[in-house]
Amino acid sequence: MYETILSPINYGGLTLKNRIIFAPTSMGLPREQWLERMRTISAGGCAMIIIGDVPVSKHGFGPSLYTKKGRALYQELARIVHGEGCLLCAQLHQSDSNLKAMLKYVPGVLGKKISMEQLRPLLNEEVGPYITGLPAKKVQEITDSFGVAAGLAKEIGFDMVQVHGDRMCGSFSSPLYNHRQDEYGGSPENRARFAVEAVEAVRRALPDIPIDFKLPVRQETPHYGNAGVLEEELGTFIPLLEEAGVTSFHVTLANHGSLTDTIPPRSHPYFGEEGCFLKFCDRVKAVTKLPVCGVGGLTDPDFVERQLAGGRIDCAAMSRQLLADPNWPKKVAEGNLAHLHRCVRCNRECLGGMMAHRGVHCIYDQKEEQS
Ligand SMILES: Cc1cc2nc3c(=O)[nH]c(=O)nc-3n(C[C@H](O)[C@H](O)[C@H](O)COP(=O)(O)O)c2cc1C
Ligand code: SF4
Repeated sequence: MYETILSPINYGGLTLKNRIIFAPTSMGLPREQWLERMRTISAGGCAMIIIGDVPVSKHGFGPSLYTKKGRALYQELARIVHGEGCLLCAQLHQSDSNLKAMLKYVPGVLGKKISMEQLRPLLNEEVGPYITGLPAKKVQEITDSFGVAAGLAKEIGFDMVQVHGDRMCGSFSSPLYNHRQDEYGGSPENRARFAVEAVEAVRRALPDIPIDFKLPVRQETPHYGNAGVLEEELGTFIPLLEEAGVTSFHVTLANHGSLTDTIPPRSHPYFGEEGCFLKFCDRVKAVTKLPVCGVGGLTDPDFVERQLAGGRIDCAAMSRQLLADPNWPKKVAEGNLAHLHRCVRCNRECLGGMMAHRGVHCIYDQKEEQS
């Protein structure tokens, strides 16, 4: 009944055992809890886990590919995930937050005069000047570091890398932030240059590795997402990215609006439906023959099967659904749908846990342990 979900696919040269991918999801959990969560998700039957926000820079936040401790953590992760028959992908990430500009808000945050919700738009205001003012030499150092990070990730045991096309790539792509007058600003070709150079750096370092690209699409009517690529500019960006070495696209809404737009609750006025971002996949599919992975509100096995079987998408990535029920792929394979915990897109313990610095959890956590 779910033949397409359960069928293997050649994804940029890598064989995925089925079409379900754990979307990049930063968890904010202590080491052992995080490793256990990744074990549970890989044991639940998905084909690949994408680890969110792996920093390409030596000074980025989160476990580092450049330190002994960070490498040991990722090696342990690779051992666990591979042991469960699942593949592992590193989302290579460069933040577009200006650390120097952030410092001026520290007293306000510490003194509780600025809440985390108030801090986000303040930091967003800093992105444009930061992106526009970065010296070209520094830009090239950053794009080169995508290649260095990819090499380290491969050495550690990651099977694939995903270039995070949002954050710094996404801000360079968008004329809302990028007001540069050099070869990185102005025309769509110039605004694509940062992302293209990042992908080229990975391809130079690793001629054979599959390179997924998280492609953030901006929508103008109505306006959602500030970074990323305008729908009308996909026809320029995608061929350039393909030529640089991308082997698949992971398509979603662009960032730098509100987090509840890219991780939309069921009550969202525009993206509350099952498969809320798939219309962007349609736009991408019209331009490329490479595999396209959809993400966003994918929870229902019948719906997911229809999208895959109809060729609208080639893979389905899920973040919250696999937090709600890591055994979704296994239960679908066994026809055990009665015991499926369906993500209700409430955002209470996942995004809510992250925002409250409690770590990412789910309202079903207790129940899942018992089932
Ligand atoms: C708690 C949480 C953390 C996330 N962290 C990341 C991340 O590190 N990198 C990223 O690109 N997307 C991140 N996302 C976005 C997801 O990859 C996904 O695009 C989004 O949640 C929509 O898919 P879903 O409806 O299956 O949850 C995160 C989502 C959640 C819920
Ligand atoms: S807390 Fe709600 S939205 Fe988040 S994963 Fe669980 S059911 Fe889904």
